[in-house]
Amino acid sequence: MAYADFVKMYAADRKVSPESLLQAKPLSFPMSTNSRGEQMIEFLRSSLALELTGKRVLDIGCAYGGFSIALAKAGAVVSGVDVSKPFIDYAIVNASETAEVDFHVADASSVSIRKLFPKGSFDFIVLNDVLEHIYDTTGLISNLDWLLNETGRFYFKVPNAHSPRWAISEGHRKIFGLTLLDPDCWFHLYPKRASIFYRRLGYFQSIFEHYNFPKLLFVDQEAVFERFPQRKLDREFKELAKRARTFEYPNADVKVYLRQGISRFREEYLYDLENSDFGLVQFKYGSYFFTGFAGRPSAELSPIQPAVGIKGLGLVAERGSQHDLLAE
Ligand SMILES: C[S@@+](CC[C@H](N)C(=O)[O-])C[C@H]1O[C@@H](n2cnc3c(N)ncnc32)[C@H](O)[C@@H]1O
Repeated sequence: MAYADFVKMYAADRKVSPESLLQAKPLSFPMSTNSRGEQMIEFLRSSLALELTGKRVLDIGCAYGGFSIALAKAGAVVSGVDVSKPFIDYAIVNASETAEVDFHVADASSVSIRKLFPKGSFDFIVLNDVLEHIYDTTGLISNLDWLLNETGRFYFKVPNAHSPRWAISEGHRKIFGLTLLDPDCWFHLYPKRASIFYRRLGYFQSIFEHYNFPKLLFVDQEAVFERFPQRKLDREFKELAKRARTFEYPNADVKVYLRQGISRFREEYLYDLENSDFGLVQFKYGSYFFTGFAGRPSAELSPIQPAVGIKGLGLVAERGSQHDLLAE
């Protein structure tokens, strides 16, 4: 009943019928919380053979609770935190009578979370579609260093700032050019606070390492090595240039900033083509999301699937496709 109660609660808050929410195909981001959580468990098992029974797991940015519920059903001892109280209220209803999860309203980028959980409280942390919503990512990752034990690992999935497809239409707002504009200019194209921050691959690699998570394993969820020959990437950059010519810029400043951003982006692509392994180019520009794991120096991060070592990336394991929904 718990999921049904959550759907009813969500529907009542939006003044729509639960049936209309459940009939949507595919299910919306909130409605698919439980099924996406189940898929993640499958992914954890099939990429790392992760044994969850009895493991202490924290789901950061747990929102409607589906990932926390799936982790608890898989035998983990789970805490879920979210900065938003309404989300935690949904998660509590969703988990009731189904799974035992210790939910809290908490800002995971603030040191205050250290009062909630003693040092080294967790074996594993989940950050699914969360990193891009956090401005103070260094605060967050330094907290992971506090929260995880000496062999701790975390899972992340984050939209790729280098994707030309996201530049053509940003995944959350479906707006041209946002990912190539500095966030302080987003208001020109999107009038509200967007709460989305696109960071470069190297930014994540360096802060993970800085906060004592030097081990990194990416998983090629989208089969980019098969699906992205150079001509396909070239085509996307051409499409981006075409859109830049026909786009109705709201004012002259945006036109200048966005065109600068597009030109910088294209120069970097051409530079990478000439100077980097082609595997890095495919992964960096072909992926919609970066999915993977980071861990302590002594953490176990051996993939089950075949993996390739790529200069500038490290180890990338193969894996078939998973969901690619983004929050509305
Ligand atoms: C796109 S949702 C992802 C939800 C869930 N992990 C999933 O994949 O369905 C991002 C979530 O991160 C939460 N969040 C953003 N900043 C946060 C912070 N500083 N601390 C904790 N949660 C945060 C948001 O409230 C939101 O629920």
